[in-house]
Order: sequence, then C-alpha cells, then structure tokens
Amino acid sequence: MAFDSTEQKKIMGKFATGVTVASTKLGDETWGMTANGVTSLSLDPPLVLLAVQLDSHSHDKFKQAGCYALNILSDKQQELSDRFAYKGPKDFSDLETTVAETGAPIMADVLGWVDCRIVDILSGGDHDIFIGEIVAGSYSETGDPLLYYAGGYGKMAQ
Ligand SMILES: Cc1cc2nc3c(=O)[nH]c(=O)nc-3n(C[C@H](O)[C@H](O)[C@H](O)COP(=O)(O)O)c2cc1C
Repeated sequence: MAFDSTEQKKIMGKFATGVTVASTKLGDETWGMTANGVTSLSLDPPLVLLAVQLDSHSHDKFKQAGCYALNILSDKQQELSDRFAYKGPKDFSDLETTVAETGAPIMADVLGWVDCRIVDILSGGDHDIFIGEIVAGSYSETGDPLLYYAGGYGKMAQ
C-alpha cells in the first residue's frame, strides 16, 4: 500500500526550506509560481532544479518558455509568496522587475536570484523536475530569508 500522503506532508514539512517565486516570460506574458521544491543541483555544469506539479498552469508555461528565474524571497516578502501560490494568471502589475539573460522577471529586493535555461525535464510522479542551467545570477549581502516549515511561514531566529 502506498505511503499516506498526509503523513508524508507532515514528515517532510519538518524539513524547513526557503521560499522562491519561479518566474518566466512567454511573449508579452509574465508568469510566476511560489516554489520550495528547489535545489542547487550541480556546480559543473551550474544546475538547479525546480519541481513543478503536472496539473498546474505553471507546468505548461515553464515548458513552453524554456527558461525560468528563481527569486529567493526575504522575510519581508511573504505577500509575494501568497500572491504567486494562487492558481491562474499572476499579477505583476505593481511589481518592480528587471530581466537578465532569458527575459524571466527578476524581482526587486529578493535575497538572491538565478536566471536559467531549461536543459532537461525529468519525470517525478505527479511532478516534473525542470533542470535549469544558470546563465546569470546575483545576491544581496543583507536581509533574512522567508522560511517555510510545517505548512506555515517562519523567520530566522536572531
Ligand atoms: C510555500 C509554497 C511552496 C510551493 N512549492 C511548490 C513547488 O515547489 N512546486 C509546485 O508545483 N507547486 C508549489 N507550490 C504550489 C504552487 O505555488 C501553486 O500550486 C501554483 O501557484 C498554482 O498555480 P498554477 O496552477 O496557476 O500554476 C507551493 C506553494 C507554497 C505556498
């Protein structure tokens, strides 16, 4: 019998993560999805991975665009995490963004970002794993991360 998914969520929820908004651009359309299924995968070549639910709109958007940026949120950006966790078109209208190499939006005041071209898509159950090769990136020397733990947000203890 398959392991209970509620139990899996509770157990893996004990693995605290940061929070990103994975973003992309298709023609005139900008797109974003809150994601913590993110890992730095390889240094040579420089790869990250992003796990994307098969039945999300985001899956098709990232696949079509062939690129994504990971925007690593600070503890002052919980609103962005909430905003990009909703299903359907995402509202960038009031956001300050720039672009680097691929055209995927880089959000202002994030702790760090990488801009990636998708070089492989692997199957992982009800998710696909989008392997991204980093083509640009940067980070801030200051600020603290937004954390996700046990199904809720947290901040670093000072
Ligand atoms: C903290 C947090 C982390 C999330 N991480 C992921 C993730 O790694 N992969 C994913 O597919 N969805 C993740 N989600 C859910 C998506 O953000 C959400 O399902 C998505 O925005 C749905 O929109 P769409 O169907 O329009 O793509 C996460 C949500 C939250 C709140």
